[in-house]
Amino acid sequence: GLKSQIKIVEVGPRDGLQNEKGIVPAAVKIELIDRLTEAGLPVIESGAFVSPKWVPQMADTAEVLAGIHRRAGISYPVLVPNSKGLEAAIASGVDEIAIFGAASESFSRKNINCSIDESFERFKPVVETALGHGMRVRGYVSCVLGCPYEGPVDSAAVMDVAERLMRLGCYEVSLGDTIGVGTPGQARDLIDTVAQAVPIDRLAVHFHDTYGQALANILATLEAGIAVIDSSVAGLGGCPYAKGASGNVATEDVLYMLNGLGIETDVDLDRVAAAGAWISERLERPNASRVGRAMAAA
Ligand code: HMG
Ligand code: MG
Repeated sequence: GLKSQIKIVEVGPRDGLQNEKGIVPAAVKIELIDRLTEAGLPVIESGAFVSPKWVPQMADTAEVLAGIHRRAGISYPVLVPNSKGLEAAIASGVDEIAIFGAASESFSRKNINCSIDESFERFKPVVETALGHGMRVRGYVSCVLGCPYEGPVDSAAVMDVAERLMRLGCYEVSLGDTIGVGTPGQARDLIDTVAQAVPIDRLAVHFHDTYGQALANILATLEAGIAVIDSSVAGLGGCPYAKGASGNVATEDVLYMLNGLGIETDVDLDRVAAAGAWISERLERPNASRVGRAMAAA
C-alpha cells in the first residue's frame, strides 16, 4: 500500500542545470538552492564534481557550495565519479556524495567512459574513503527502463547493479529512467524485481518526463511500496549523454499529487512553485511544471 510519508530528493540544481545550454551563473544556482532550502526540501542535490570537459555546467560546484546557506537537517549531496571528484568534495566540506552507474554497458561508456565492471572498481575506493570521512553515499543506476543506445534494459541487470551499489555501502539507490521511456506496468515490475535484492525502503525512483509518463510511473511505484522520489523544480533538466531526454518530473507536480493523496512530505508547495517560477524566468524558458503554470495562472 501507499506510505503515509514520502521523502522528496530535489535534483534540479544538478540534474536540471547540468543540461542548460548556456552557463548559469553561480549566484543564480546559489539563490535557487537557498529558495529550495526555504521550501523545506530535505535533500537538495547541489552540484557535481565531474570533469568540466564533460559537463562544463557543473564546473562551479565548489563556488556554489561555498555560497549556499545550509540549514541543519538538510542534505546537499553532489555527484562524484572518481577519486578526483571525491577530493574536491572533501575540500568543500560535503557530507553526502552520489556515485552513478548504469544498467547498460553503452550508457556507462558514454557517460563515465568505462564499462560497468570498471565503474565498480573505480567506485570502491571512492566509497571507502567517503565513508571513512563520515560521508553518506547514495547510488544511482541509469537507464533502468531503457537505454538511448541499446533500447530495452533487462530488470535483472538493474537488480544486479543496484545490489552491487548497496553492497559497496550506499545507504540508498536511486533507479533512473534516464530517457523517460518507461510506462507504469514496467515501472511496477521493475520495483518488484529490484526489491528482491535491495530492501524497498532503500530504493528511490528517478523519472524523466520525456514521454509524459513520469507521474503515472511514480504512482505505480508508490503502490509497489516506494517512499523516496527524485524530482526537479520547474521540471528542469535532462542528461547531456542522453540526447532528447527531457527534464525530471517536476517537484511541484509530484507535491500536488502527494498532497491530493494525503501523503506527508513536509515540503511547502507554494514556495517550491515560487522557486520554479523564479528559475524559469531567470533561464528564460517556459516553466515545465504543469502545476507551476496552473498555480501562476490561478
Ligand atoms: P575520462 O576522460 O575518462 O577521465 O572521463 P580522465 O581520468 O582521463 O580525465 C580526463 C580529464 O578530466 C583530466 O583533465 C582530468 O584531470 C579531468 P586533463 O588532464 O585532460 O586536463 N577530471 C576531472 N576534473 C574534475 N573533476 C573530476 C575529474 N575527473 C577527471 N572528478 C569521467 C571520466 C568520469 C571523469 C568523465 O566521464 C565524467 O566526468 N563524466 C561525468 C558525466 C556526467 O556528469 N554525466 C551527468 C550525470 S549522470 C546523470 O545525469 C544520470 C542521473 O541523473 C540518473 C538518471 O537520470 O538516470 C544521475
Ligand atoms: Mg537524471
